Amino acid sequence: DEELKEIKKMFIVACGSAYHAGVTAKYVIEGLARIPVEVDLASEFRYRNPILEEGTMVVVISQSGETADTLEALRQAKQRGFKVLGIVNVVGSSIAREADAVIYTHAGREVSVASTKAYTVQTALLSLFALHLGLLRGNICESEAQKFCFSLSRELPEKIDEVIAREDEVRALCLSLSQKESAFFIGRGVDAHICAEGALKLKEVSYINAQAYPAGELKHGTISLICKGLPVIAVSTQLSTAEKTAANIREVAARGADVYLVAPADFPQDGAKYIFSLPKAAEPLLPIIAATVTQLLAYHAALLRGCNVDKPRNLAKSVTVE
Ligand code: AGP
Repeated sequence: DEELKEIKKMFIVACGSAYHAGVTAKYVIEGLARIPVEVDLASEFRYRNPILEEGTMVVVISQSGETADTLEALRQAKQRGFKVLGIVNVVGSSIAREADAVIYTHAGREVSVASTKAYTVQTALLSLFALHLGLLRGNICESEAQKFCFSLSRELPEKIDEVIAREDEVRALCLSLSQKESAFFIGRGVDAHICAEGALKLKEVSYINAQAYPAGELKHGTISLICKGLPVIAVSTQLSTAEKTAANIREVAARGADVYLVAPADFPQDGAKYIFSLPKAAEPLLPIIAATVTQLLAYHAALLRGCNVDKPRNLAKSVTVE
């Protein structure tokens, strides 16, 4: 804790879904702990000679703890004299052993190649870590922390169970989606990164070419790709960006897109062709809950396309090569 109080910046490094968990964590850590956070792909971090200032803590995130790019990034940071915290799922893995400190996600053994529960637990754990940092540094009070902890430990599992119980509703959305060869995910702020992970899931298990785009960026070029019948999955969980995302939904719907809206029931719904209303929950939990919906979308789209969701083509569970 003494060291955590002193850190001036955090540099999160990871690959794939772990990277997406890291980018989502940036919003929470900067919000609750007011520590500047930079997030980088491990395969980029290693070769761009990053500027690591005095007082920077490097955090590496890895489900397997064996990803070559992430392990090398850890080694490089340590060689440069920086402390490295590992957020790891596999106990005793290389990254867990070589990090200066480890927080285990304890998500249980993840069998599928596609990271699902490890990703959601990484995101929840990093929220808890942000909370701890916020408390340590006096940015939040004990009662706020208690409330957030309650939401994470009690409310989040219940709401994820609720989404999984509505699996048939998600499967119904996939009847149309699974017929398509490409799709878009759009969102703003933290939702843009939930979309990035949702697009990765859909790509890697159903082979639908999915692209995630910050909703505000569409008008700067990508909107030229929007055409009749193109699936656009819009994730909107934060009240602060709901109206702007609703405007983007109307923009793409007006150009013929089939919009799949993943949002709270009381958010604007005009322009959406399909809707999955998120269960009522504390706003900070909604991105993680929305991620469960996108994971189920990928799962059912893949099954409907006859793909092997556990062993997608060309992929390995742990990328131990560079
Ligand atoms: C996730 O669905 C992918 N299988 C892949 O992107 C994975 O997240 C990435 O290779 C990082 O793996 P790690 O968490 O074990 O380091």
